[in-house]
This record gives sequence, structure tokens and C-alpha cells, in this order.
Amino acid sequence: MSNPSLLILAGDGIGPEVMAEVKRIIGWFGDKRDLSFDVSEDLVGGAAYDAHGVPLHDDTMAKAQEVDAVLLGAVGGPKYDNLDFSVKPERGLLRLRKEMDLFANLRPAQCFDALADFSSLKKELIAGLDIMIVRELTSGVYFGEPRGIHIEDNMRVGVNTQRYTEAEIERGARAAFDLAMKRDKRVCSMEKANVMESGILWRDVVTEVHADYPEVELSHMYADNGAMQLVRAPKQFDVIYTDNLFGDILSDCAAMLTGSLGMLPSASLGLPMANGRPKAMYEPVHGSAPDITGQGKANPIACILSFAMALRYSFDEGAEADRLEGAIEKVLADGARTGDLMGPEGGTPLSTTQMGDVILAALDDSL
Ligand code: IPM
Ligand code: MG
Repeated sequence: MSNPSLLILAGDGIGPEVMAEVKRIIGWFGDKRDLSFDVSEDLVGGAAYDAHGVPLHDDTMAKAQEVDAVLLGAVGGPKYDNLDFSVKPERGLLRLRKEMDLFANLRPAQCFDALADFSSLKKELIAGLDIMIVRELTSGVYFGEPRGIHIEDNMRVGVNTQRYTEAEIERGARAAFDLAMKRDKRVCSMEKANVMESGILWRDVVTEVHADYPEVELSHMYADNGAMQLVRAPKQFDVIYTDNLFGDILSDCAAMLTGSLGMLPSASLGLPMANGRPKAMYEPVHGSAPDITGQGKANPIACILSFAMALRYSFDEGAEADRLEGAIEKVLADGARTGDLMGPEGGTPLSTTQMGDVILAALDDSL
């Protein structure tokens, strides 16, 4: 049987730096665990714009549709801020999500014990935190029509449309309930049913789908209250299911609870392919971090943890995913820190490559 295939789209800013460490980790699994991948690489975002004048070339899109999983670094940067909206780096990412139909975006917010002091919240509020946000990723206001900026009565008007079909709400809800069944069996659905019809439909459909999951406890919350509860008492949540825009905002909020945005991975999953694997793309939640690009300072952990999610969700290698996550937990417990994880007590931060080195060493130790 041929090896499973991976397409790496490292993108912009710190994307290529953190992805370089992921490539070493992928190599380790090939050498030491007999788990080899056919890896190809291509451009996305500003890097693709520089080469082709578009943030995602059609050939790259076609490749992404064919591989078993895509690993993405980050897109965007100040150099591209003034580009026309249609060719901004972010459009490349959104095209991948939309055309691969990656409707279920899994964003776990887990607090590593060693980092509990880094949270902006009190340690006791976040120690042991383990939340899974399931964000609907292919619809809502990100893609709804009509959209645009037009003139009415000599005045510019900006329009975006929040639009959800019941099928879209339902398939994401099933993903959330299925995940909850493997966790603490609790789902909290978040919308704004008090002001939005799409929110009313959201609440109705999630309630209907819940009938198929009697073991799961379902609650509903307005998304603004959800934001408040996330910073007030985050451990009350197990799985949160929410729409594309609320999910974007709530996941940044949840990420920061864990200490650093440099720690958070994500998986974006779609329908099963012919080989039974879901269409999938894995990416760190952090962005391209132009302020530290090229300095070897970036924390590669979010990107490495995204590969661990690929092992778990695309390749059914849960034990190997545990091994990789365990190696990261161990190096953090041993005091390994990149700059973003330095406390007030100071010390010398590890470079991106040095963090990769200690994680590889911990993987060796795990054998
Ligand atoms: C995210 C990002 C993206 C989003 C941007 C880069 C388009 O913020 O993945 O959370 O808004 O979805
Ligand atoms: Mg975001």
C-alpha cells in the first residue's frame, strides 16, 4: 500500500519557520515508527500571490482536493494589507475551506499544567481546562450573499449576510455531538437567537439533532454570554458548537485562556473521501506573526500539535498522536520555553529549532 499523502502549505510569516519543525517530526515518525507520508509542498497566501498573482493557484487547489490531508502554516502580513480584497492572502485560506467543504472546525483549548501560570486568568480557573470548540467553517457571514460595498443615496453601504441552511447547521451539530460522545458528553450551543433569525433556526436544528444523542447533555447560550462565561468560569464547558463568526471570536478568547496563542492547534474536517478518510486541513490557530518573522523565535508547538490532530483524525493513529502530545507535555514540564512562554522571572528562551530539538529528543525517550 502506498503511503498516505500530505500537502504542506507553509504560507507566510512564521508559517515556514514552524512548519520546518513539523517536517522534522514527520520525518521522525517515518524513521522510528514506520509511519511514512508522501509529502509535497506548495504556496498559499502572500507567498502564492508573489509567485502567481493569486493567493491560491488552481493547481494547488486541485492538489489539496486529492491528498489525504493538508497542513497549513499561516497566511498574511503587512506587505499584503493594501491588496485588493479578492487577492488578499486570507482569500486563499477561505477558498481551501470552502472548496474542500471543511465544515467542522475543531479548536481544542487545553491547558498544559506547566503553563497554568501563563493564563491571564487565575490558575485555579484554568488548571486542567479541556474545551473543544466546534466552529462551523463553510457558511454564515463569511460566505453569505449578498455581500459587497455599494452606493445608496450617494452613500457607501457595506453588506454581509448571515445565512444558514438547516443542513449546514445539522452536519456541524452532528460533528459536535459525536465528539462529545468521546468526551464528557456535554454540548453547549451558542448563537444570538434573541436578535437573529438564523440564531433561532440554529437553536431549533441543534435541539432536533440532539434527539439522536440522548446521552449527551445539551445547553444553549447567547454567544455574548458565552464569551463572558469563557472568561468567568471556562471549565463549565466541554464541547461548544457555534457558527463561523462567533466561533472565530470565541476560539481566540478560549485560546488565550491557555496562556499563549502559540499553543493552539486546529483541525478542519469535511465529508469522507473514497478511502474513508475525511477531507481535512490542519493548521495552528495563530497567525503569521509578522513582528517576529525571520527571527527564529516562533513557537512551533501549535503547528506540531496540529500534526498530532492529523494523526488522530485523518490517520487513525490515536496512540501516536498521544505520544507526540505527551512529548510536548514533557518538554514543557521540564521547563522548555519559547519567547511567548517566558514568565516574568525571565530566562533564556529556546529558538524555534531548539524547541523542535527537545521535542524530538522527548519522542526518542518515549520509545
Ligand atoms: C482563523 C482566522 C481566519 C478566520 C482568517 C485568517 C481568515 O482568524 O482561522 O481564526 O477569520 O477564519
Ligand atoms: Mg481567527
